[in-house]
Amino acid sequence: MQLQDLLYSQGFGTRRVCAGLVQQGHVEIGGETVTDATAEVQDEGLRFRVDGAEWQYHRLAYVMLHKPAGTECSQKPSTYPSIYTLLPGPLRQRPQKGAVQGVQAVGRLDQDTTGLLLLTDDGQFIHRMNSPRHHVPKVYEVTVKHPLDQRQVDRLLEGVVLDDDPKPVRAAACEMVGEHHLRLTLTEGKYHQVKRMLAAVSNRVEGLHRSRIGGLALPADLLPGQWRWLTAEDLTALRG
Ligand code: URA
Repeated sequence: MQLQDLLYSQGFGTRRVCAGLVQQGHVEIGGETVTDATAEVQDEGLRFRVDGAEWQYHRLAYVMLHKPAGTECSQKPSTYPSIYTLLPGPLRQRPQKGAVQGVQAVGRLDQDTTGLLLLTDDGQFIHRMNSPRHHVPKVYEVTVKHPLDQRQVDRLLEGVVLDDDPKPVRAAACEMVGEHHLRLTLTEGKYHQVKRMLAAVSNRVEGLHRSRIGGLALPADLLPGQWRWLTAEDLTALRG
């Protein structure tokens, strides 16, 4: 692949902008500045720098973000800043079928919810992760207003009816970690599901944090607002 095309595929701008980046000496490969925009490069595994920032070629992008509170999972937020502002420009500008598309969140978290959020430009992956048929478990650390008791835990496990569907929704797992701390595992993702389930057992969510999706836990060293690429092991853990 030509270097200008590779940069374009990774979201560094139009082909013309990418050619300019190379010709003006902004791009380094293996410590050497490359100024030939049409130079042929091997895409898989290519590491390069643009204005000193290190990048690696990814045919499809899979990243995790530690979503901080007070951010919206929308491209067009209404009140709080968009989570997309936490990502570097190239991840937001990766082209898809000729249009600027960028990565998309795999499902949404509420503005006040924190924790593990996945983003990708792989539509099939988004579909698979969100599909109720695939039952990918998501673990939430829930802080509640009123003291918890076994009756509430049992009802969440047995199933509660929410206002938009007569079919009960149940937690796949539910553990009382402390008097006001519940660890809840869900395999579906209905709108405000955790908050509505806790309301259905006469409690109230005061803090919500997603700590795990499938076999992938939010790493302790990924601070709120930080993102990183998913590794091959992370992707395997998600499937497991
Ligand atoms: N359930 C909720 O109520 N909110 C979230 O953000 C995620 C799950």
